[in-house]
Amino acid sequence: MEANNNNNELSPANQQLVKTIRQLLGVISVLLCAMLLLMFFLIFGVPDFGGKKNAPLTVTPAPPVEKPKSEFWEAPDENLISDEEVKYGRELIAHTGEYLGPKGKVQIMTNGMNCQNCHLDAGTKIFGNNYSAVASTYPKFRARSGTEESIEKRVNDCMERSLNGMPLDTGSREMKAMVAYIKWLGKDVPKGESPKGSGLVDVPFLDRAADPAKGKLVYDAKCASCHQANGEGLLNDAKTAYTYPPLWGDFSYNNGAGLFRLSRFAGYVKANMPLGANHANPQLSDEEAWDVAAFVNSQPRPKKDLRKDWPDISKKPIDHPFGPYSDSFNEKQHKYGPFAPIKKAAEEKKKTS
Ligand code: HEC
Ligand code: HEC
Repeated sequence: MEANNNNNELSPANQQLVKTIRQLLGVISVLLCAMLLLMFFLIFGVPDFGGKKNAPLTVTPAPPVEKPKSEFWEAPDENLISDEEVKYGRELIAHTGEYLGPKGKVQIMTNGMNCQNCHLDAGTKIFGNNYSAVASTYPKFRARSGTEESIEKRVNDCMERSLNGMPLDTGSREMKAMVAYIKWLGKDVPKGESPKGSGLVDVPFLDRAADPAKGKLVYDAKCASCHQANGEGLLNDAKTAYTYPPLWGDFSYNNGAGLFRLSRFAGYVKANMPLGANHANPQLSDEEAWDVAAFVNSQPRPKKDLRKDWPDISKKPIDHPFGPYSDSFNEKQHKYGPFAPIKKAAEEKKKTS
């Protein structure tokens, strides 16, 4: 009672008002606190109260570390392509068949395969036959033609052999675009250098000839599910492009193509097939790679007139399967091996000459 009396001059009605306001203020501040808490949870997430016993209360974010530089070539980011010609070039490399194949929307001049079937991920995959060393090393002398070759000539080599087709006109929009893309890919590679991971892996020689019969077992077990039992691959429903490209038959690469050499085929599949394999995680043993190469390359395929190839026969690669040769090994051994004796003879010849 005393306190009330001493309090102040407010009338009981006003005292009641002040009380109500205080109560209201109390409710509002509780609501405000609740809202703030809610916002905190919304922004920072609900803390895991029952979580890990010894988890530190505050999580210090790891300092932003730079992605460690790979020892292998890294292609420039395709999302950074701004030039329309380069974009078209990439599209052509990835979907060649749709533009230049038997149902091509630009011209009908190839077997329907895509450059990307062999130059994986549009020519960017490590040991997937990528284009990292093209801009930096061409034009260059190549013994197959015995001439200095431009990038255009090299592209047309694959047009006429790997795609078993016709050469593109050097001035055509398509050739210019593909070359522009290939140059863009290699723009950061110093002149004359071949980055680590370019081209294909070299599979160590076997001490026997590669064996097509053993290769057929590999093929049936590990390849036929996609490339089909008849080796002719599988077209999409619209028949405009291959879901699985052919490995032999009328629509495959011809006998003048790089993959027709066993070392190239073995190198390609060792680091890339079955689909999903890469150089760090190969799925075939060296023997399987050589044997399946022997099997596939003993199946029927288109033929090219190769008489003008390797005008200097001493420059033929040891696994070029067509004579004449400057050594005494026959075509069969040059095709299937064993290759070590051929290589040894070539090295000895080099020393004595
Ligand atoms: C059937 C497989 C296959 C197809 C399809 C193919 N290529 Fe090739 N290409 C090869 C092989 C194999 C090599 C040679 C690799 C080696 O000798 O190490 C090669 C080499 C090249 C090179 C030279 C690479 C270098 O580093 O010297 C270029 C450029 C090239 N191809 C462009 C193309 C283009 C463009 C297309 C499509 C129009 C194409 N290729 C389609 C298999 C193919
Ligand atoms: C899961 C499906 C799959 C399996 C299994 C598979 N491949 Fe392929 N292969 C592909 C595809 C898809 C491509 C084309 C890749 C691209 O365009 O990106 C290809 C491309 C190729 C090429 C180059 C293009 C051509 O047609 O000449 C060769 C050679 C090849 N495969 C060989 C093999 C061999 C040998 C095996 C078994 C050891 C095998 N593949 C298993 C899906 C497969």
